[in-house]
Amino acid sequence: MRLRGAAVLITGASSGIGEATAIEFARRRARLALCARRLDRLQAVAEKCRAAGAPAVTIRRADVSRRGEARAFVAAALRDLDRVDVLVNNAGTGWTGRFHEMPEEAVLEVVNTNLLGVIWTTQAALPPMLAQRAGVVINVDSNAGVRALPYSDVYSATKYALTGLGHALRGELSGSGVKVVTVYPYITRTDFDPNSGAVGPAYSATFVAASIVRAARFPRRDVMHFPGRLAHIFEPLLGGPLDHLLGEIRRSRQPELAGPGDLPEHVAEID
Ligand SMILES: NC(=O)c1ccc[n+]([C@@H]2O[C@H](COP(=O)([O-])OP(=O)(O)OC[C@H]3O[C@@H](n4cnc5c(N)ncnc54)[C@H](OP(=O)(O)O)[C@@H]3O)[C@@H](O)[C@H]2O)c1
Repeated sequence: MRLRGAAVLITGASSGIGEATAIEFARRRARLALCARRLDRLQAVAEKCRAAGAPAVTIRRADVSRRGEARAFVAAALRDLDRVDVLVNNAGTGWTGRFHEMPEEAVLEVVNTNLLGVIWTTQAALPPMLAQRAGVVINVDSNAGVRALPYSDVYSATKYALTGLGHALRGELSGSGVKVVTVYPYITRTDFDPNSGAVGPAYSATFVAASIVRAARFPRRDVMHFPGRLAHIFEPLLGGPLDHLLGEIRRSRQPELAGPGDLPEHVAEID
């Protein structure tokens, strides 16, 4: 896809990978529609994008975990930019700790943002893309979507779900002109919470953003970075031992995670 003048929508553009991706698209003269919940941060990112060369930048406060706000973001972008060429589903959140201690609100936030948020925006963006017979949906998944992370259980579950969603949709849309790409960042230096106990090399947000922009220009099924690709290849053989090894590594780095923990209130309430 030609990026100059293309209409690119990015969720979660107020920091980290989303911010870096907006700036990378701006450098290629794409027109941008950005959303997140922190409007002040989005305004600052929009300024950087204009300075980097974007001919049009619109921002909108939207919580993608809320169906109406997610859909309204896409509808407003379509109205402002006339078309939808690229949708980058980047907004995501995590929670680290013992699975049985994860508060209900946190479970709902992670599932509603990481999985349902992607479903709402993509459902809204597909009709105009299908009418154009062109478009690229890029889902920012995670290495945790092919190699689950102990103590980031619900996060891993949502990212595995994104892997399935992307692959199924890719088949459904084959021949339509609309492409679906799944990007699996490895550890990336951002404010992201689950990184506190992460294992392995860390990439910059700009590195990941460059691979997202490349995926928009030359769409392919999966975009992985070393050593995520290795973990993916060896998963069927070594998945079992890796489950235990990663659990051990996380407990050794965060000793507070060892042991059974407390019986949380929301479990204790059950008769
Ligand atoms: N950093 C890593 O190591 C890593 C590795 C693998 C995958 N990822 C994935 O990369 C994506 C971006 O993460 P990041 O590392 O760049 O972390 P980040 O700096 O915390 O960025 C997360 C972005 O998502 C937005 N967001 C969160 N919840 C939202 C919601 N309900 N509605 C709208 N926007 C929301 C945040 O903006 P507001 O708070 O302003 O809403 C922020 O712009 C996530 O999907 C994450 O799972 C990250």
